[in-house]
Amino acid sequence: MTARERIEFLFDPGTFEEVDAHVTHRCRDFGMENRIVPGDGVVCGHGRIDGRLAYAFAQDFTVLAGSVSETNAAKIVKIMDLAMKMGAPVIGLNDSGGARIQEGVLSLGGYADIFLRNTLASGVVPQISAIMGPCAGGAVYSPAITDFTIMVKNTSYMFVTGPDVIRTVTHEQVTKEELGGAQTHNEKSGVAHFAVENDEECLLLIRELLSFMPSNNVDDPPRVESPDPADRADEALDAIVPAAPNQPYDMLDVIHAVVDEGYFLEVHHHFAKNILVGFARLGGRPVGIVANQPAYLAGTLDIDASVKGARFVRFCDAFNIPLVTFEDVPGFLPGTVQEYGGIIRHGAKLLFAFAEATVPKLTVITRKAYGGAYCVMSSKHIRTDVNYAWPTAEIAVMGAEGAVNILYRRELDAAGDVAAARAARVSEYREKFANPQVAAARGFVDAIIQPRETRARLIAALATLETKRDRNPPKKHGNIPL
Ligand code: HXC
Repeated sequence: MTARERIEFLFDPGTFEEVDAHVTHRCRDFGMENRIVPGDGVVCGHGRIDGRLAYAFAQDFTVLAGSVSETNAAKIVKIMDLAMKMGAPVIGLNDSGGARIQEGVLSLGGYADIFLRNTLASGVVPQISAIMGPCAGGAVYSPAITDFTIMVKNTSYMFVTGPDVIRTVTHEQVTKEELGGAQTHNEKSGVAHFAVENDEECLLLIRELLSFMPSNNVDDPPRVESPDPADRADEALDAIVPAAPNQPYDMLDVIHAVVDEGYFLEVHHHFAKNILVGFARLGGRPVGIVANQPAYLAGTLDIDASVKGARFVRFCDAFNIPLVTFEDVPGFLPGTVQEYGGIIRHGAKLLFAFAEATVPKLTVITRKAYGGAYCVMSSKHIRTDVNYAWPTAEIAVMGAEGAVNILYRRELDAAGDVAAARAARVSEYREKFANPQVAAARGFVDAIIQPRETRARLIAALATLETKRDRNPPKKHGNIPL
């Protein structure tokens, strides 16, 4: 699609109004006086998406590779300022060779002006970036600051420096696709949140994403009438957790069984699969879901999962979207790779994000809630409003085997039949901790619920939290461990 076709496809038919179509660049060096194109390579304006106001810019790669000049940056800045004033989302359809080389510092300054607006708008209006062609140099940093980045497979890539520069500097041979294609940034770097097949799918996804979000940070997310009964009970949930504690199951099945019409818009599907994040509705009300995935790395929290979860939690908190957490986590992933990579610092991000969030927070412990991960995953202690546990919940400092090895090492060393002695201690430990009773007796879990009634209980709880008012102490901003 051309830039203009993309814009037409994105907005409700006939609603787009372009601004600054006649603006041209002012550069007269390097023969640029002969390369003047009205609009200067970017289409900017506003229109309606599902009837709601939104602002967008679309870079036109056919004009000097969609490169950002002083004047076309000013066009983008203009609509970003308008979007913030009106409280409406900003959508960037990116397709650009970065700063326009002929303009030198003027184009760099233009980029910095955009980055400032991205930063100021963060947490005020939703910002969504689509990468729909090559995006090099400065073209990647504006998307990086925004809330969600969608890449079109095979036609888009993002990199700070391209393969030619890399070959010269580090002698590495890498293709554009390997370096910065949709799969690379969805799976490896986590820079992008979605990979889509083509432009149409990308633009439809933007519309879909917006349907879960308010237009700004003082509005509530849009509700819909849900045909799915609030009291629908799913008996299959009662048998979903396997009897053996180390046997995996798919947390997606739990999510699908609970949310309206089984619809879950997963975010960051290809990255850190040990945690699931995404949007769904409960009783027609948008919620952000964060869930450990026991089917991948046993649902442990590692560096990538912590960062993925933290960023999603902060988005939901900024935009008044209640958080629903499904918990089955054996702890943080052990090992030198994780420790050297800074799991302490990164894991703390998720803890910080959940702790500072003031939106309605609900947690369902389906099975394991072990160690620090119990505290982190939206526990009662960090201001979660409603904490439920299934009867299969196990809440303990660590798993039975590990605990017995530490607590009874001397006893086991001295035992004649080590296996029998260990088995006895393990069973004693499991009886004490492999259940939610102690937590429920202390009020750390509000109720032990039957899995089948999870949907009804969550919808009822959300209704009671509708008037929730909570705030953090006055401060300039916290210092999340970045
Ligand atoms: C001006 C540019 C341009 C640019 C491309 N063109 N990039 N003109 N400024 N940044 C022009 C080309 O000269 C060419 O002009 C036309 O656009 C199409 O480019 P091609 O190279 O033929 O297209 P393609 O082969 O598809 O390659 C696309 C590309 C490549 C990967 C984007 O053009 C490229 O690497 N461009 C430079 C990327 C870059 O390094 N940008 C600056 C980064 S610094 P003709 O006349 O032939 O049609 C930066 C700093 C910002 O952005 C601040 C960061 C924090």
